[in-house]
Amino acid sequence: MTRRAFRGEILSVAHDPRDHPHAVRHEADGLLVVEDGIVVARGAYAELAGAHADVPTERLDGILVPGFIDAHVHYPQMDRIASHGAQLLDWLDRHIFPAEKAFADRAHADAVAAAFLGELLRNGTTSALVFATVHEHSVDALFEAALARRMRIVSGKVLMDLGPEGLADTPDSARAESEALIRRWRGRGRLGYAVTPRFALTSSDTQLHAAGALLTEHPEVLLHTHLAENVHECAAVAARFPEARDYLDAYDRFGLVGARSVFAHGVHLPDRACARLAESGAGIAVCPSSNLFLGSGFFDFGQADAHGLRLGLGSDVGAGTSFSMLRTAGHAYEAALSREAALDPFRALYLATAGSAALLHIDDRVGALEPGQEADFVQLDPAATPLLARRTAGATLAERLFALQILGDDRAIRRTYILGECAWERGTRA
Ligand code: GUN
Ligand code: ZN
Repeated sequence: MTRRAFRGEILSVAHDPRDHPHAVRHEADGLLVVEDGIVVARGAYAELAGAHADVPTERLDGILVPGFIDAHVHYPQMDRIASHGAQLLDWLDRHIFPAEKAFADRAHADAVAAAFLGELLRNGTTSALVFATVHEHSVDALFEAALARRMRIVSGKVLMDLGPEGLADTPDSARAESEALIRRWRGRGRLGYAVTPRFALTSSDTQLHAAGALLTEHPEVLLHTHLAENVHECAAVAARFPEARDYLDAYDRFGLVGARSVFAHGVHLPDRACARLAESGAGIAVCPSSNLFLGSGFFDFGQADAHGLRLGLGSDVGAGTSFSMLRTAGHAYEAALSREAALDPFRALYLATAGSAALLHIDDRVGALEPGQEADFVQLDPAATPLLARRTAGATLAERLFALQILGDDRAIRRTYILGECAWERGTRA
């Protein structure tokens, strides 16, 4: 048994502050006590110090927050971030599909998976829901690398039997490979599986049906896909599924809409689809930097909140322009404001931590630094740059947090802890 403690300013938001007025938990001088990677006590230092006087205690300046949780990101696309000049469908053809073809080589997948997880840790992201590629071994590569780093990662083989040549599976191979991966990785480390049809345009009806069957057979897995991201994509989906009431309905008909479904984007949704999402308990991974980069539009927080949708935050790299969930939270603020909604910085922190954890159904384990949860956390540096230092000097907690979201990125991550162990420290190599 190893017990250690961390003393510093601690902040977390376990519930959506829109519905829970007392969701923000903050200790200006707090103590976090960790035993074998699990938080066993948290509170004001003055109250807890006596009972833990014998525990080795590390003093951490800055602000300690739960590790960030990226609810939608593509590891095979990290080297195509910042690819110029096209909206979604052309961008996929021009930049993304060629990059994903290279994952037929397992050694390439291993190398990118290692770099990707290093980039997550550098940005304070300790858990993520991750797109792999169509290749079965692309998931093995990511899961092996995550296992070695003890990270909580959820992923799955991409289903895309209507994909381009060299990147298409079949309904049968998709089902068999997904089954094999689910069985191979079940219960190992901190890993989880998501059945991952790419989007409605790259799977046949037969394959979408097979995806639904996988969900029925494996009630513990998630469903992870894209939904209503881009106007041209939406028009193509309407043409392909003339009988569907809207884009969500095209998935619903195959049993893909439920409480364990995570849909990336949802920028262009009719109210009917929002009502159905709310009724089913499915969630949306909001990906604002990606929506801006690909000219997809701005997520409508007002509409989502009117329907009480469950939301998390995703970087969506490589369409997203930053791995940083701080930057992503800043972009979410800008997206919200462009549609006349104001995203409070504590709510943005919630979306990037416990909100995303709830979408991934891992909120019992991570996201809020509550006793009983795993001790994944980040030491934020509100003075990481000269400008941040000036803006945050003498500022309130809300102002410091907002400044970190607008001005911060990986430079503001002083350290990242996995299960109470330092897994990344600024100024060192991954
Ligand atoms: N829709 C289908 N595939 C993708 C992808 O790789 N990235 C994004 N942003 N949207 C998609
Ligand atoms: Zn995506």
